[in-house]
Amino acid sequence: MSLTGQKPSIQVWDPLVRYGHWALVVAFSVAWLRADDESGGPDQVHVWAGYAVGTIVAVRVLWGIAGTRHARFSDFVYSPATALRYLGDMLRGRGRRYVGHSPAAAYMIAALLLCLAATVGTGLIAYGDTGKGPLASAGSLVIAGAHAEERGAGRRGESEAGIAGDLHGALANSTLGLVVLHILGVGLASAVHRENLVRAMFSGRKRPGDGD
Ligand code: HEM
Repeated sequence: MSLTGQKPSIQVWDPLVRYGHWALVVAFSVAWLRADDESGGPDQVHVWAGYAVGTIVAVRVLWGIAGTRHARFSDFVYSPATALRYLGDMLRGRGRRYVGHSPAAAYMIAALLLCLAATVGTGLIAYGDTGKGPLASAGSLVIAGAHAEERGAGRRGESEAGIAGDLHGALANSTLGLVVLHILGVGLASAVHRENLVRAMFSGRKRPGDGD
């Protein structure tokens, strides 16, 4: 207990969570801003930013299994009912405070990681269609197969890789929508609990909960 009667802050987010989070923000932003070059296709900066997003998401998933206490997925497993009740309470300005991720944050994090992984995956397939990237040969096979089918059916339809490219764009837009909701949620939780969650994502430190 300090002289002001407040308990000293505790370490909640480990360095991998914090650096990973802000690296993800930078990588996603760069990939988004460099989505189209003059020819309408992806440029090298977009591609490498996408690889970075994929790598960060993969490392974060492994860290969710083997990481520190509040980084582990098992630390923030809540039923949908708990998350909805928490959201309702928050909108009325009286949600319970969690030191780790809240029930609503837990679902948002799952949605963000899934959407980011699917965006990277479809991007890799679409890039493979252009004969580039790690899925270049797989992509060419898909296209060759799709073209053969089209010839067989006597029509020219949309190829698999075209679908992958469209899906990639739709998933990137969905991720951006989630990011907007995520930032609004962080703002709401910071206001309701009178704590700066953005600063905590930099320092890793938060004021302890009742049980800490
Ligand atoms: C591309 C944009 C973003 C993505 C993909 C993203 C993704 C994530 C993910 C995956 C987490 C979970 C962290 C973990 O446990 O490893 C998280 C948490 C968090 N993010 Fe973001 N984020 C983005 C932008 C932002 C921005 C701009 C802010 C600041 C306004 C922010 C503030 C936070 C905070 C404070 C948390 C902790 C939430 C909590 O207390 O439960 N994020 N974010």
